[in-house]
Amino acid sequence: MSHLFEHHGAIGAGYRQPEPVIPKETVIIPPALARQKAPRWPRISEPEMVRHYTWLSRRNFGIDTGFYPLGSCTMKHNPRVNEVIAQMPGIAEMHPLQPEHHLQGLMAIFHEMQDMLAICAGMDTVTLQPVAGAQGEFTALRCIQEYFRSIGQTDRNKVIVPDSAHGTNPASAALAGYEIIEIPSNSDGRINLDVLRAVVGDDTAAMMITNPNTLGIFEEDICEATKIVHDAGGQMYYDGANFNAILGRTNPGLMGFDAVHYNLHKTFSQPHGGGGPGCGPIGVKSHLAPFLPGPLVRKRPILATDPLTLVNDEVWYHWYHPEKSIGKVQQWHGNAGAVVRCWAYYRRYGYELKTMSDHAVLNANYLRRRIMDEAQDKGLAHTFTDGVPSKLVKHEFTLSLAAMKGQNGIGAMDIAKGLLDKGYMAPTIYFPLVVDECMMIEPTETESKEVLDEFAIRFVEVLGEDADVLHAAPQTTDVRRVDEVYAARNLCLSYPFDEEQ
Ligand SMILES: Cc1ncc(COP(=O)(O)O)c(C=O)c1O
Repeated sequence: MSHLFEHHGAIGAGYRQPEPVIPKETVIIPPALARQKAPRWPRISEPEMVRHYTWLSRRNFGIDTGFYPLGSCTMKHNPRVNEVIAQMPGIAEMHPLQPEHHLQGLMAIFHEMQDMLAICAGMDTVTLQPVAGAQGEFTALRCIQEYFRSIGQTDRNKVIVPDSAHGTNPASAALAGYEIIEIPSNSDGRINLDVLRAVVGDDTAAMMITNPNTLGIFEEDICEATKIVHDAGGQMYYDGANFNAILGRTNPGLMGFDAVHYNLHKTFSQPHGGGGPGCGPIGVKSHLAPFLPGPLVRKRPILATDPLTLVNDEVWYHWYHPEKSIGKVQQWHGNAGAVVRCWAYYRRYGYELKTMSDHAVLNANYLRRRIMDEAQDKGLAHTFTDGVPSKLVKHEFTLSLAAMKGQNGIGAMDIAKGLLDKGYMAPTIYFPLVVDECMMIEPTETESKEVLDEFAIRFVEVLGEDADVLHAAPQTTDVRRVDEVYAARNLCLSYPFDEEQ
């Protein structure tokens, strides 16, 4: 793997710093903090650098290069008009420290997003601060914690999560200082209400759950679950990562939830992958609103004393911090560029967002049936819907390769790697943990029937491949089969310079 520092530019110098505009003698840096040696700038000329990054980008797989059925991640097409809008000078060139009267346009967008997200989820107030779903979870749990503190219920120290939950749910709860109570799902993959009844109590702070759940199955008993938790005095938290399945059809507010996060980088088409950039706003019911992190945007009628604004001459947007706020969870106003892209997306689709969800669900069900029909004798099992072929999933589905693994040693990992050789991104594997040899597929609404048909055929071809071939896959990618845990266990975050460099 070539690295920027391995290039030695034509003149051997690379980037040259401009002379400082502040006279050196006026800058007082304590000697202990001052650099002893000049930094090691990469010695690379501009064309070499362009080639380097273009080369790197070609080694990558993205939604722009192929079908990306990564379950739970909602890797949908990112409309380019969103980029055009996010790059407009009145948006891209703004600095968060500019005064309100410079930022009225951006603030109008923020305000509309807060309103739109609150309506979509049936919540009262939204903050756009968190920049990931996981951060949204933590932020909402902190609001719940402060809410309980404000009403003197400090003994509520447990958070309930189903065993099918995404790993971030228990992780966020643990980070907020909660004890985790994991409850097993029913044999059909849904919440087990009897177990829930048995574990709730005076110490329950919240239950965290996503609906449809991580198996792509709608939790039909969700209102009963909400009642059980509420009757015990706990709060209901909706993990909105699967919102793509229900947007416009139903909402967490109707199901009784008190708080929710949105993954704008999934449902609302902000590009993501490779760790970012994301946006994980949260919405809450009014009793939790005073604790939200700010700033939020509010509007009021314009006053004669306000400076001129170009947005309109009736409304003035201003920042505010809720009175009992838990404090900021992100610098400035969160990930403003992501908010704008998602606003552009929602503005383009409006009420058609409902059709988006319909198509996401249709595509998942179509692909699931196509694969099952094509692969009748290949040891592939639907999970939790066995024997009920007419039963529908929502926007994604899981398959178990356990039977196949038992027969010929080919597991989910091998099939995932084999798909890379066919030019596809591998589906999510080994999640959720409740499915043995799990493969989780989410086609999203942005793929055509032709793409899905082709994928189903190739998928079944991979299932039929020789075990030796699959154990050695992928063969056609730049990087072959890697040790899945090596990088995580042996983190290497710096470049090993030798002293001469
Ligand atoms: C069900 C579910 N919950 C929460 C998250 C966390 O979201 P983020 O990756 O934005 O932190 C994910 C992410 O994949 C998810 O699939």
